[in-house]
Amino acid sequence: MTDYGTPFNYYGPTRLVFGRGVTAGAGALVAGLGVRSVLLVCGSGATRRSAGFAALAASLEAAGVRATVFDKVTPDPHAALVAEAADAARSGSLEAVVAYGGGSPIDCAKSAALAAANGGPILDYVRGKATPSRPALPIVAVTTTAGTGSEMSSAAVTTDLASGQKLGYTNESFFPRIAIVDPENHTSMPTGVTAATGMDALTHAVESYLSLAANPLSDAVNLRVVAMIARSLTRAYRDGADLEARSGMAIASAMAGVAFSQTGLGMVHGFAHPVGARHGIAHGQANAVILPYVMAALARDAAPRMRDLAAAMGACPSDADPRSGAASLVQAIVDLKKGLGVPEGLSGVGISASDGPTLLTDAIGYRSRPRSPRAFSDAELGRLLDSAIAGDLEAAAAL
Ligand SMILES: [Fe+2]
Repeated sequence: MTDYGTPFNYYGPTRLVFGRGVTAGAGALVAGLGVRSVLLVCGSGATRRSAGFAALAASLEAAGVRATVFDKVTPDPHAALVAEAADAARSGSLEAVVAYGGGSPIDCAKSAALAAANGGPILDYVRGKATPSRPALPIVAVTTTAGTGSEMSSAAVTTDLASGQKLGYTNESFFPRIAIVDPENHTSMPTGVTAATGMDALTHAVESYLSLAANPLSDAVNLRVVAMIARSLTRAYRDGADLEARSGMAIASAMAGVAFSQTGLGMVHGFAHPVGARHGIAHGQANAVILPYVMAALARDAAPRMRDLAAAMGACPSDADPRSGAASLVQAIVDLKKGLGVPEGLSGVGISASDGPTLLTDAIGYRSRPRSPRAFSDAELGRLLDSAIAGDLEAAAAL
């Protein structure tokens, strides 16, 4: 419960430039930062060959900004890839990093920008073995998906291949200087990516709203985000060219990034990170599968605020009884998942009960665990994970 007397900080230095076609102005915005050379970070697939990428590259050139393309980003970027990108930035004495893509290119760009400025392996900073003495190089994020929120956040996730873990790390200089959110760059997203990233954005808003660190500002943002996603996600999934729906998702994702930067996330992400790192499941897909099980288990302690989320999504009246409102939230998420073709349980994405113990070990150490509105014991987290693997919503609700 947010107490209006509880102290909190808000810090959000990112300039958000939103609108159809704004990519054409990216070069002038980058030049306005006073930089003349950038590392342009992206994947090698469809986004690299897209009209949006061409528009970005052309606008940088027109503005007199020299771009060195680093197009090797793979999903869930690992530390060696970050090192390679950082080396490219350092060897070219490049002044800033521009990311074009979804969460993977943006997070890789952030980590490379920090490693380039400070030297040393990114995992030393992520694991707290070293403290960066310099801020990251200036970061500009141009999105092609609507989910990560990384374009507005101070967080980046790095995969450690040696330990098989995905590790979140926060640094104030990870807030992009500029986020360019152009829904026209989102229209080519395949349906599966639309569903997974959209559910990631929903999970950000829900977990941020239920976080013990929620504050009145994040509350306002998150309630608006879930309303926009409830109206836009299924539409964007069914018709990728629906620019109104794409716009709703694009701005909702960015807004959720603003909120969760302040509050942290919760145990949906606590489970989704090891599921992604150890089984190669896309981050948004993992969140989408797990979300209703964690919600069902939170209803005991977080019913009034879950009711608020359900009401914002249009799933129950705003004055509904908290317990029935919380149940409406779980049902609304189940229905949304079904409409997006998301499997019910983790067994539907190839995870079996025998995988549970390793996943649980990682989840137990999740950094946002203390902000969960229910203080799950380790044993309860184990039973919750089992229920998500089996697709057993009743078992999660009975926890
Ligand atoms: Fe996420």
